[in-house]
Amino acid sequence: MVKDLSVELCGIRLQNPVIPASGTFGFGLELEESFDLNCLGGISLKGSTREARYGNSLPRIADCDGGMLNSVGLQNPGIDALVNEKIPALRKIFNQAVIANISGFSIEEYEDCCAKADACEGIDILEVNISCPNVRHGGMAFGTDPKAAAEVTKAAREASRKPLFIKLSPNVTDIVEIARAVEDAGADGLTLVNTFLGMRIDIARRKPVLANTMGGFSGKAIFPIALRMVYQVAHACKIPIMGCGGVSRAEDVIEMMMAGATAVQVGAQNIRNPFACPEIINELPEVMDRLGIQSLKEIIGSV
Ligand code: SIN
Repeated sequence: MVKDLSVELCGIRLQNPVIPASGTFGFGLELEESFDLNCLGGISLKGSTREARYGNSLPRIADCDGGMLNSVGLQNPGIDALVNEKIPALRKIFNQAVIANISGFSIEEYEDCCAKADACEGIDILEVNISCPNVRHGGMAFGTDPKAAAEVTKAAREASRKPLFIKLSPNVTDIVEIARAVEDAGADGLTLVNTFLGMRIDIARRKPVLANTMGGFSGKAIFPIALRMVYQVAHACKIPIMGCGGVSRAEDVIEMMMAGATAVQVGAQNIRNPFACPEIINELPEVMDRLGIQSLKEIIGSV
């Protein structure tokens, strides 16, 4: 029997729940020749800031058992290039959900970027990133304090009428407290989680591996922790969740959805295998068949 992979996210129908996570898939265009992007549920684009940014010094990637560290530092061409160049080019080849990831260093910057993204027809969903661990000001600082998280959410809400997701940091004691603050401030949904602050040392050089000393850890090793956070927040909040963190196979997608995610983002696995998302999508019907699942919608939050 044909399986129903579709889900609905804030009134937007996704043909399946699988979405490459921001920062692991560029602006989609980079992967255009590798496979037909239209098999995806959507794409979360690389985070945009008001100004173009080079990002942090090299090296900014470190391989680890079970994952990787990154300290990219929000390298991006700026919000104007996103709305005037990247989105129009992507829309020529892509007709599924487009998620603009917005980062910032002040409330005003988030507000400006959200207003510009809101006015851009090719963008379906805003994902406001208050969880980047790789910049000194802004980023994660907004996502680790419920008051600051709510302030950014309010400003983004006032600047945009599009579905507004807030991407949360796992580097907190109580993620439910932050999630509730963001929900109360007007968010339509949550993406959880971003990367875990980590570090490696080159023991021969007696120096940190990353030029920025610390970075965000992602990959298979974080899956159980991300899953636990999705489960906790799903039981405390009413708004939908895009689950993210260590997803690398179809079974992980199903597990995230059972924990309460409506859609599932694939991050570090795209760096290891650029075909990870289409492979997961192709595997889903067989795994659903094995587990007696007819429609993915029926398993959301079923545990
Ligand atoms: C980065 O560009 O540093 C990664 C973005 C993020 O972790 O939010």
